Amino acid sequence: MADRLRGKVALITGGASGQGRAVAIRFAQEGARVVISDIDAEGGNQTLHLVRESGGEACFVPADVASEASVQALVAAALRQYGALHVLYNNAGIIGQGLDGEVTQLSVEGWNRILDVNLKGVFLCAKHAIPLLIQAGGGSVINVASVAGLIGSPNAGHAYHASKGGVVALTRAMAATYARHNVRVNAICPSTLETPMTAALLQDPARYQQIVAQHPLGRLGTAQDVVGLAVYLASDESAWVTGAIFPVDGGRTAV
Ligand SMILES: NC(=O)c1ccc[n+]([C@@H]2O[C@H](COP(=O)([O-])OP(=O)(O)OC[C@H]3O[C@@H](n4cnc5c(N)ncnc54)[C@H](O)[C@@H]3O)[C@@H](O)[C@H]2O)c1
Repeated sequence: MADRLRGKVALITGGASGQGRAVAIRFAQEGARVVISDIDAEGGNQTLHLVRESGGEACFVPADVASEASVQALVAAALRQYGALHVLYNNAGIIGQGLDGEVTQLSVEGWNRILDVNLKGVFLCAKHAIPLLIQAGGGSVINVASVAGLIGSPNAGHAYHASKGGVVALTRAMAATYARHNVRVNAICPSTLETPMTAALLQDPARYQQIVAQHPLGRLGTAQDVVGLAVYLASDESAWVTGAIFPVDGGRTAV
């Protein structure tokens, strides 16, 4: 156990799987008390078990980030459980398999669903959590966007790109606004990571190699590749960092 997040309470959305799970385990190992949230209760409880097994302190609260009532209940439960909130890790998201595509083939229903989870979800969590961060004297909001918010790519649909571009813009706007309350807002932009989200996309070996070839470092990422930056941004080590957009992308956006 290290101590880089000792004394902090962190709320992680999308904590049942992939990056959210890896970050929840590591935040707790760094001394944070972690509120794990997800729409998937089974996966969320598995993450809770893994955090406790590694000696960490956490609870699980099911919530749908696309629903304001659900997010309000989540933030209230976090406050009841730990009495304060210092870190909001906005990570829940969907790639929209079967719902997304290029604009000329995209249904309004698919567009709305992807924007609801990936962008409105960040808005709603920030709306209800930031007052608690301000109350705590300051805090850190970390938004998981994507390189799809920075560049075009045939690996994801247009609604996904738009949602993540929105998260990048919202990150900067919130950073500029809440700096006066010592609330920092930053974004992590991963390129393709091998998590449950991309399992179907990466099933075909030829496609897999094609996507690897887009990355100068010669491999795809894993959930562990975002964890170090997540801890840095949640901790006081990044006290003078806000409004920053960090690609974690194996060099994808450098070429
Ligand atoms: N895997 C990648 O290649 C990649 C790349 C760039 C960005 N991202 C982003 O990283 C984040 C985490 O993705 P991951 O790779 O860990 O995928 P994942 O599918 O393993 O995890 C996403 C989690 O979000 C949860 N979720 C989905 N809809 C929700 C909702 N309405 N309310 C609450 N929770 C909900 C899911 O149940 C799941 O546990 C997402 O925002 C994703 O868009 C992923």
